[in-house]
Amino acid sequence: MHRIAVVGSINMDYFIESEILPKVGETVLGENFFLSIGGKGANQAVAAARLGGNVSLFGSVGEDENSHIIIKKLENENINLGNLQSVKGLPTGAAFIELCQSENRIIVVPGANNSTNVDYVKNVASELLNYDVIVFQLETPIEMIEYLVPLLNDHGKTIILNPAPAQTLGEELLKKITYVTPNEHEYNLVFNTNLSMEELLKKYPNKLIITCGSEGVRFFDGKEIKLVPSIQVTPVDTTGAGDTFSGAFAVAVAEGNDLEDSIRFGNIAAGISVTKKGAQTGMPKRNDVTQFVKEKEYKDEK
Ligand code: RIB
Ligand code: NA
Repeated sequence: MHRIAVVGSINMDYFIESEILPKVGETVLGENFFLSIGGKGANQAVAAARLGGNVSLFGSVGEDENSHIIIKKLENENINLGNLQSVKGLPTGAAFIELCQSENRIIVVPGANNSTNVDYVKNVASELLNYDVIVFQLETPIEMIEYLVPLLNDHGKTIILNPAPAQTLGEELLKKITYVTPNEHEYNLVFNTNLSMEELLKKYPNKLIITCGSEGVRFFDGKEIKLVPSIQVTPVDTTGAGDTFSGAFAVAVAEGNDLEDSIRFGNIAAGISVTKKGAQTGMPKRNDVTQFVKEKEYKDEK
């Protein structure tokens, strides 16, 4: 089995649920509060590991209580954490997530994630060359991605970048990335463009993969724009849906599936994940996906 390295953020997520959101200067009563492990890097690593991926997570935590809780949980997910760095004097990353009517708003305070920087990746670069598929997001400094991508590309690695939270990427960097997976709200900023979705997709065949929520995922295969539909579910909490897609997609790619099948696999996993609260809680195991596919085939036959 091919090996997957996720290089990215690790957070403690503080969820607050309320029926209405307060306006400036207002106080409202909420319904629920809970902690859950998150961060786009950790989420994508968990998604991939639950689906049977051979996964290592590269990133940083602080020397605090949250780091112990998080590491213990991630070890239980069968993720290799041997290259994590523990940073003195900084808190572990934290995300404050308001859940309101199954929609969310998130503020992330990176803390130790900012130390997943060029200095850190210089130290782990040779280790990273032992992996086949490398997955990045943008909750850690982009300079370290700009440093690693040319090196990984020279070694023929498959590079997946989930450009969230969105920021503009340079053309040189994009050239060396195998797959880039913005969502429908992010792609304009990521590509710094006014092109329509269709025009942009055509510019990046088999590379640009735009996730369009409950509709599905679009890419251009060189001949036509394909929409791989999402599975139909009633969402409870979409936090981490993009991460589940990314982790699952990485597993399917690592297993040698073609692009469309890999996207389909990502869609099923992401669809299942939104049926539970918290980023990681609803992420499926391999069996859940297999079961879903079987049931669907059975229904389709009828
Ligand atoms: O993508 C979802 C994640 O974004 C959450 O887990 C939170 O930590 C934020 O980083
Ligand atoms: Na969820």
